[in-house]
Amino acid sequence: MPQRFEHDVLIIGSGAAGLSLALHLPDHYRIAVLTKANVNEGSTYWAQGGMAAVLHNRDTVDSHVEDTIRAGAGLCRREAVEFTVRNSRRCVEWLVEQGVDFDLRDDAGVPKEREFHLTMEGGHSHRRIIHSADRTGRAISEVLTERAQQSANIEMFTHRVAVDLVVHNGHCSGAYILDEKHERVDLFQARAVVIATGGASKAYLYTSNPDGASGDGIAMAWRAGCRVANLEFNQFHPTCLYHPKAKSFLVTEAVRGEGGKLLLPDGTAFMQHFDDRGELAPRDIVARAIDHEMKRLGADCVFLDISHKPRAFLESHFPTIMERCSQLGIDMATEPIPVVPAAHYTCGGIVVDTHGRTDVKGLYAIGESSCTGLHGANRMASNSLLECIVYAESAAKHIDTTLADAPTLTEMPVWDESQVTDSDEDVVISHNWDELRRFMWDYVGIVRTNKRLQRAQHRAQLLQAEIAEYYSNYKVSNDLLELRNLAMVAELMIQCALQRKESRGLHFTLDYPDLLDEANDTILTPENSTLQTAD
Ligand code: FAD
Ligand code: SIN
Repeated sequence: MPQRFEHDVLIIGSGAAGLSLALHLPDHYRIAVLTKANVNEGSTYWAQGGMAAVLHNRDTVDSHVEDTIRAGAGLCRREAVEFTVRNSRRCVEWLVEQGVDFDLRDDAGVPKEREFHLTMEGGHSHRRIIHSADRTGRAISEVLTERAQQSANIEMFTHRVAVDLVVHNGHCSGAYILDEKHERVDLFQARAVVIATGGASKAYLYTSNPDGASGDGIAMAWRAGCRVANLEFNQFHPTCLYHPKAKSFLVTEAVRGEGGKLLLPDGTAFMQHFDDRGELAPRDIVARAIDHEMKRLGADCVFLDISHKPRAFLESHFPTIMERCSQLGIDMATEPIPVVPAAHYTCGGIVVDTHGRTDVKGLYAIGESSCTGLHGANRMASNSLLECIVYAESAAKHIDTTLADAPTLTEMPVWDESQVTDSDEDVVISHNWDELRRFMWDYVGIVRTNKRLQRAQHRAQLLQAEIAEYYSNYKVSNDLLELRNLAMVAELMIQCALQRKESRGLHFTLDYPDLLDEANDTILTPENSTLQTAD
């Protein structure tokens, strides 16, 4: 039998965004935090490089703001950038108060009390990335999880997959949630609902992201009537470990920040031919340069060489990468690492304001699922963890000041599965998954054309029709829900890409190679999109 749950605030997602929001809310609220897997399985846990913040006295807010806007190819919303950067130091202090252990400076072998080690990444003109070796996400994730688990007012629910939002009289008042263990769909009602479900990079065959990055929150918000924006800007991280037998694994940009050089298979450096900033040019430029060289040479990968650094330095700064490389027989202290680009970050998402408010009353979106205007056409490295924490705090404040005015909850109908049966064709789901991720990689990748985008759109539409039929006849499962959401988000990405008649930041098309004078967001609304909100 489906169950009903009632809370003050329902947070869908337990990454940096969702957990920070839960911890920022006053403890008299009853809060539910849901995750479709175990708590530490979102992208947050896997973040390596760190979090950008203005911490050094030679760095300034203006410099971080200007770097972000330059990396975003003129499309960032200045207000969002300034808001985020101005709050960066406070967010670091908050994380330290929670207990996150960031690396300290260690110039002479003795850590300097409270003086953080700051690393460097592409697009930044200062060292401003605070980190915990190369496992910053894990350090943040574990601490926030522990703090949430210790809070009596926060209930954590694992293996609960949000299916769709409940919107009543224009106000979001909950969501239908698949309980995987009990194989039933429950109703979670709350006076404020927060989407913190991460990005959609699983739309691509090769990705640095964990399995759950299927754009569920973006698709649910779209179905609920929210606008989405800038989904053509999917960021490809230039350096993921290439090994025929290994799943994609990120090699942090901080390796280049500490002097790592990109090399062709014959050992020649090439980045200076593409940008004066060389290996530390923004990601869109580095990923395109690698893609260009791989295609020109017919090479499977290029190489990242940091073997000039002492082994002890590599062991203390990049222990996770060293361990992974060594499992695959690569010793990064003596030889270059084979690398390729892979889908990494969804710059666009659900349109929100500086409080994380969406177009639907009572519904917020924070973290990678949202589009705040911070990233523009290309996210600068290590700005996303920062965005998660800044907007979590801001949304928490807004919820706290407005929750008293939210309508009282009306009891909504429970999920009805009386007309559907168990799926007897799981092979269709897995085939469609593969097909989708393959054509997105081939046709909506680093270099695009109108023709490729139209081909992809045609396929996305066919898949959506098949999935809709499947969805209305069979019981829901996590695989089916993810496929349904990914196909929808893929089509939204393609629509955004087709609307942009220029090449800007991460969106590069051979049909419009130039930059237009005016920078405009691509905003899809239920009115201007060919994709209907309800399927
Ligand atoms: P996530 O951390 O992805 O969490 C999403 C949560 O939502 C999960 O708990 C998931 O289970 C849940 N969820 C999703 N769908 C549903 C559903 N339908 N029902 C219920 N729950 C659901 N950024 C940086 O700033 N610095 C870095 O160094 C950095 N390194 C990175 C390295 C890697 C390998 C990757 C993949 C990303 C990296 N990023 C980095 C990006 C950054 O980690 C993410 O943008 C950020 O962590 C996103 O946080 P989030 O809270 O929005 O989502
Ligand atoms: C990395 O460590 O290279 C990833 C940083 C990021 O995605 O911001």
